[in-house]
Amino acid sequence: MGRVGGCVMADLSILGLNIPFFKEAIGAVVGVSGFAYTWYRVGRHAGNSADAKIIEALRSDVAVIASQKESLARRFSNLENVVRDARDFWIRPPEPETLTKHQTALRTSMPIICVVNFKGGVGKTTICANLAAHFAEAGKRVLLIDCDYQGSLSDTALTQARVDKFNANSHLLIEPNHESQWLRMAAERLSPINSRLWIYPAFYDYSRSEINMMFRWLIGQDPEIRFNMATYLQSAAFKEDPETQFDLVLIDAPPRLLTGAVNALTAATHVLVPTILDGQSHLATLNTLSAIRQFQMKLNPSQRVLGVVPSMVGAATGYSSVEQEYIDELERQIPEFYGSLVPVLKSRPILRRAELAKAGGSEIVVSSTSNSQTVRQVRDMFAELADYISSNVQWRRNDGTEAPKMAKPGQLQKVAS
Ligand SMILES: Nc1ncnc2c1ncn2[C@@H]1O[C@H](COP(=O)(O)OP(=O)(O)OP(=O)(O)O)[C@@H](O)[C@H]1O
Ligand SMILES: [Mg+2]
Repeated sequence: MGRVGGCVMADLSILGLNIPFFKEAIGAVVGVSGFAYTWYRVGRHAGNSADAKIIEALRSDVAVIASQKESLARRFSNLENVVRDARDFWIRPPEPETLTKHQTALRTSMPIICVVNFKGGVGKTTICANLAAHFAEAGKRVLLIDCDYQGSLSDTALTQARVDKFNANSHLLIEPNHESQWLRMAAERLSPINSRLWIYPAFYDYSRSEINMMFRWLIGQDPEIRFNMATYLQSAAFKEDPETQFDLVLIDAPPRLLTGAVNALTAATHVLVPTILDGQSHLATLNTLSAIRQFQMKLNPSQRVLGVVPSMVGAATGYSSVEQEYIDELERQIPEFYGSLVPVLKSRPILRRAELAKAGGSEIVVSSTSNSQTVRQVRDMFAELADYISSNVQWRRNDGTEAPKMAKPGQLQKVAS
């Protein structure tokens, strides 16, 4: 080094340059370079192992993403099924233990009647509300469940009961993990109408909960959501506790196959299908029966259809020829759609009545304070239908006491068939 430095100094001297401490300066430069090179090597080594760690982390990210992709593909295919045919999707088979447990519970259940038709405006809510009022007056403890976010049943019942502060809590019945005892006490008692009448009211929150529950199920966050209402209704608080049990549950279903209707069909021991006797309602009623059959086969084999109720029938004197044709067609086609006979309750129709039309949303006519002849006729016609229902369901009191006897129904001016 010194030699090199000497040579360079000699060379530089030749050039006439004489730099003091040149040798030391060169030594310092070379020393610093070596030091820097060593640190560079150390740094490289450290860099390599950091790279390895990054690569390792990336590999594991890729594995996670691949598994997420797979799970998303599964969820997406579920969503596609929903879009393709909501019914097929909803009736996919439950776990065998879930089905067995539910069917066993239903053997000792109070009657749970779902009033359903996927055609809108056929009189489901009107029939549900007036039957409930009739049964409560006849001594039964009746629970109404509003499954429609439109809240027509809630509106009618709560307006008449003059309840203006209430919890629209019906959606809790389609959600999991609420405490049954607490939920039972959360039902609104409609004492001003009848102290034996309760309701779970629904309003727009219901729709949010329905969609939320459906998506949770679709993405696998909730393994089973179709039996939530059934589970609450079959819990000890609802069914065995003499203080809180009901004799009858009436569910007002919406004209849509969403989480609420699915839970209602799964929970119900019986269904009642109102229909208007016209072209629009005819096929919808047959399709509703076909859907009910599929639900029964997969989710609720012991459920029974009580019958198809002619609703808003034109004249008290008899069916028009067009209405009669629709009855004949229904009777002929029901086995094709439902798979077996279902009675069309043609001798117990609900007639089109001005009182029922104007009461919509504000009053249950059967509980009206009026005793006019027309109101009495409305009471009689619901009593006739209630009488049929009463003799076709199994009344129970699980505490061993006998259920109250039904009041004698009034005489309906029957429609000739
Ligand atoms: N028997 C009847 N006579 C006269 N009007 C009636 C009768 N039944 C129902 N209505 C009226 O027809 C309208 C629709 O009835 P309702 O709400 O009971 O039908 P719905 O099937 O429950 O409808 P949605 O499918 O929208 O829930 C209401 O305004 C109601 O007051
Ligand atoms: Mg309705």
